[in-house]
Amino acid sequence: MSRVGFVTEPLIVHSENVTYTQDEIVSEYNYLDSQVSGNVVSEVSKALTFKTSKKVPKTGILVVGWGGNNGSTLTGALLAHKHNLSWETSQGHKHPDYLGSICFSTSLKIGVNQDMHPVYCGLKDLVPMLDPKHLEVGGWDISRANLAQAVARSKVLSWEIQEKLTQHLSELEPLPSPYFPEWMPNPLPERADNLLQGTKQEILEEIRRNIRDFKTSKELEKVIVVWSANTEKNSSNYSNVNDTAQALLNAISQNRQEISVSNIFGVASVLENCIYINGSPHNIPKGLYELAETNGVPLIGDDFKSGQTKIASVMVDFLINSGLRLMSLVSYNGLGNNDTHSLSQPDTGTRELMKSQVLKAPVRDNPLIYQDLNPDHCAVMKFVPYLGDEKHTMFEFVSEIFMGGHNTIFLESNAEDSLLTAPVILDLVILTELFTRVQVKTPESQFASLHYQLGILGYLLKNSVSGEPGYSHFGQRQAILNLIRALVGLPPESFTLLEHKVTNLYT
Ligand SMILES: NC(=O)c1ccc[n+]([C@@H]2O[C@H](COP(=O)([O-])OP(=O)(O)OC[C@H]3O[C@@H](n4cnc5c(N)ncnc54)[C@H](O)[C@@H]3O)[C@@H](O)[C@H]2O)c1
Repeated sequence: MSRVGFVTEPLIVHSENVTYTQDEIVSEYNYLDSQVSGNVVSEVSKALTFKTSKKVPKTGILVVGWGGNNGSTLTGALLAHKHNLSWETSQGHKHPDYLGSICFSTSLKIGVNQDMHPVYCGLKDLVPMLDPKHLEVGGWDISRANLAQAVARSKVLSWEIQEKLTQHLSELEPLPSPYFPEWMPNPLPERADNLLQGTKQEILEEIRRNIRDFKTSKELEKVIVVWSANTEKNSSNYSNVNDTAQALLNAISQNRQEISVSNIFGVASVLENCIYINGSPHNIPKGLYELAETNGVPLIGDDFKSGQTKIASVMVDFLINSGLRLMSLVSYNGLGNNDTHSLSQPDTGTRELMKSQVLKAPVRDNPLIYQDLNPDHCAVMKFVPYLGDEKHTMFEFVSEIFMGGHNTIFLESNAEDSLLTAPVILDLVILTELFTRVQVKTPESQFASLHYQLGILGYLLKNSVSGEPGYSHFGQRQAILNLIRALVGLPPESFTLLEHKVTNLYT
């Protein structure tokens, strides 16, 4: 029998640095780092106070592209949980789960018990988090298919759960959405039967009305807008058009063609004080950042990080941090879903994967083995209709090893893309909701929110927009855990296990 402990209830930390009031958790925290000048390293200790509101607000998400594979899969899964549905498959009886969510399916070590055995708890039990069963979901789509039809069209969830969900999903209908085919690498005229028309200013105002109506009708305190529609072409930063907040607002009112659909959704969200998450690889123009920053509204992106990029970043972490010189990372991806059809067009295709930060930061951070060398990084994406949502990926990692040798690793991965992505979207929503309940101050400053781009979520996104230096896969995950630990006054997890290396440490 395992002697490892596991706590299944919400955690209460006893410490003179932590106070649980009726409404808040207040944590006095010492952020320890070092400052480096030449070869001299000096310890830096920064006193911070974190204040986390314990009241989880009634929250809703509005998904742009609600009827797509991600939007419909996530909605179906949330309703399966809410209505406690279960279903038969050829592999046996299945119940809804949260596999793939770090909030609901991962644990962390919180300490040791009297026998010096580690004790763990689920991440969700450190601080109050939104219960996905209480999440309201709505959204827009250029396709009028209701969510039951959308789930059937996506062919992701298995047949019996689709059947059981039908009565709940068929009453959910996407709101009409603007459609600017010139912005799509691969326009979808056959899908576009639910269109919001008008000038760009009129469209902006209607979307703002949609957000307000959703908030009022569901009696919500917080709304998060998630872009999960097809990838658009990138917006260049045009001078006096979208490079400042005011220029962007003017350009919308002038109906300028440089304004994309996602620009309008981003502006509408910010003006309605709603968090905006960009789940696609296309960029966000400068003016929208400025608008979000001046309005103090979180703006988070870009591009959900699910299967393929995660595997690549794990392998990069393993190889380079073992001291091997990874020189070539090539992946071949075949997939047949609607989004791949669009991503395989020349304008977005491989660029989407190439721009990923996966290799850049680890190479930059290790001049011991790279000096001026630049490893090859190539990703090929092909639209293979027969594969549907099941992504087939082959990776090849070629590294230089000891004394002029080589090591080549091939990996093959087949997985339903949206079943990997939906829990990532859920984590983004849950963690964004949490981190916007957090205020922080130094001894000299007033309480303020975390930086509006929430770079801490880099683990869940391919290109964290914040411009923060990149971290490894495990570093990015640990950053989230360590910040949540800080909110309840727990030190960063050190993994050193000194209690097993120093005699009588705890006696
Ligand atoms: N599925 C994944 O694994 C994954 C991973 C990372 C990122 N992403 C990104 O998430 C997005 C969604 O992926 P998906 O697999 O659900 O794609 P999808 O093609 O199945 O769904 C996109 C939906 O957006 C709708 N749409 C298109 N233009 C629209 C508009 N102007 N307004 C409103 N709706 C519009 C489409 O009708 C469709 O229902 C894509 O941009 C994709 O690149 C997906």
